[in-house]
Amino acid sequence: TYVVTEPCIGCKHTDCIQVCPVDCFHEGDNFLAIDPERCVDCGLCEVECPVGAIVAESELAPDQLHWLALNDDLARRWPPITQRKPALPDAADWAARTDKLAALMR
Ligand code: SF4
Ligand code: F3S
Repeated sequence: TYVVTEPCIGCKHTDCIQVCPVDCFHEGDNFLAIDPERCVDCGLCEVECPVGAIVAESELAPDQLHWLALNDDLARRWPPITQRKPALPDAADWAARTDKLAALMR
């Protein structure tokens, strides 16, 4: 599976939505999550994200491993998103920030 990670928080560009052949993205207020049970590992979304938030599970760094369980949990609770929409208004500011996990709206 592929996994949405920290850079997405506060940005939510949604370019990834357009290319997913199995519509496995789910939407929260300031983050998207991939349903790991539906992702078919095509990799198309990884290159679409302008902030590099999407990572293959096999390429997660040790300190990124928790993002897999988080995507799984959030995807179960959030509604699917299949249509692209404008990025969040402060996306450029958020893209420059790190340590954003505490700001994730669940
Ligand atoms: Fe969808 Fe492919 Fe990305 Fe998985 S890797 S979330 S199937 S676009
Ligand atoms: Fe998020 Fe990147 Fe998609 S910012 S919404 S993972 S295009």
